[in-house]
Amino acid sequence: MIKAGVYVHLPFCLKKCTYCDFLSHPPKKGEIAAYLDALEIEIERFKVEGLTLFIGGGTPSVVPPALLVELIHKLQQTYGPFLEASIEINPATVDRDYLQALLFSGINRLSIGVQSFDDSTLQLMGRLHNSREAKEVIYLAREVGFKNINIDLIYGYPGTDIISIEKTLKTAVALPVDHISYYGLQLEPGSELFRKNLLQIADEEFVEMYYLGLEILEANGFFQYEVSNFAKENKECNHNLIYWHNKEYLGLGAGAVSRLGRRRFKNISSTDLYITNLKNNSRIIADSEKLTADLLLKENIMLGLRLKKGLNPKQLGDRSLEELYPTETAFLLKEGLLEKVGPNIRLTKKALPIMNTVISRFF
Ligand SMILES: C[S@@+](CC[C@H](N)C(=O)[O-])C[C@H]1O[C@@H](n2cnc3c(N)ncnc32)[C@H](O)[C@@H]1O
Ligand code: SF4
Repeated sequence: MIKAGVYVHLPFCLKKCTYCDFLSHPPKKGEIAAYLDALEIEIERFKVEGLTLFIGGGTPSVVPPALLVELIHKLQQTYGPFLEASIEINPATVDRDYLQALLFSGINRLSIGVQSFDDSTLQLMGRLHNSREAKEVIYLAREVGFKNINIDLIYGYPGTDIISIEKTLKTAVALPVDHISYYGLQLEPGSELFRKNLLQIADEEFVEMYYLGLEILEANGFFQYEVSNFAKENKECNHNLIYWHNKEYLGLGAGAVSRLGRRRFKNISSTDLYITNLKNNSRIIADSEKLTADLLLKENIMLGLRLKKGLNPKQLGDRSLEELYPTETAFLLKEGLLEKVGPNIRLTKKALPIMNTVISRFF
């Protein structure tokens, strides 16, 4: 049986944050229950041995706890036991009972959307919680018994500055968390922020904020293992490592992507159609592509270079990047944008903030 990471998409949020274009919306009456019924049908369609589970969204914690626990049990019975079972939560949507129900159901990793510990930034972002509430949920999660907690932070939001980011980072590292995702703001065309057309943070300041993150996080025991991800020892996210190693995963739910065998396929994004089609026993796959050897090689380069340990020739069919792309590799090594570490090759610190431009040299 195929061994795979399992991702489940729950496309609900109480309110859209200004920067976000993830597939999510405020649930209509009865929609959550109908969606979970549909998910159960989709779950039955696949047989894989689940290595990790990641319940994401949207905001999974918008789902009433009894329904969520039922879903988790179904996933465990069908694909489990999981080595790691994560769920994304929003601080505005959980209390002690909710966290306890998650822990008892077998969830062993929480990913909390915090974004900032600066109240005025949180307000600009349209978040439903303030900094104090986010901190309270983190302490509560630890108290309840979670031993693996991630928080998401965003830098580079218009109207913020290096001082507010420093405050957020220093607050974050002093909290009982094991992993920090430190994302640079992506200006998403479908977001409210994009429509507002505000003056964006200057490139140099954006880069300065990224380097400040590296410095504060690493100085406090959060080791970088991916461009935007930092973990205490042995607390890397195993589920996301499956993506970065280009291994197999099953994606369930509206808009979810799977990479199984030699194919990558994506479910329809419309929640209504997802529910109706599953009820009617029809197809829910919107796109599917064959993963040719050439495409896999390119993806391995793109994903492998995101990792701190870099790309190993094993990921390239036992050939080195220099053999495969001699001109591009030589140029990037000379420019100090790539470096060799034993048999591996990786992005230098200088290249990290301009990763996409560097990687695009290979395509
Ligand atoms: C599904 S959300 C996390 C859980 C929950 N929905 C919440 O926001 O509290 C995933 C994460 O993606 C990040 N994110 C979303 N849109 C982003 C953007 N435009 N730029 C950078 N990070 C973004 C945020 O850090 C967010 O916490
Ligand atoms: S960041 Fe999280 S809570 Fe905000 S809209 Fe996106 S998915 Fe929803």
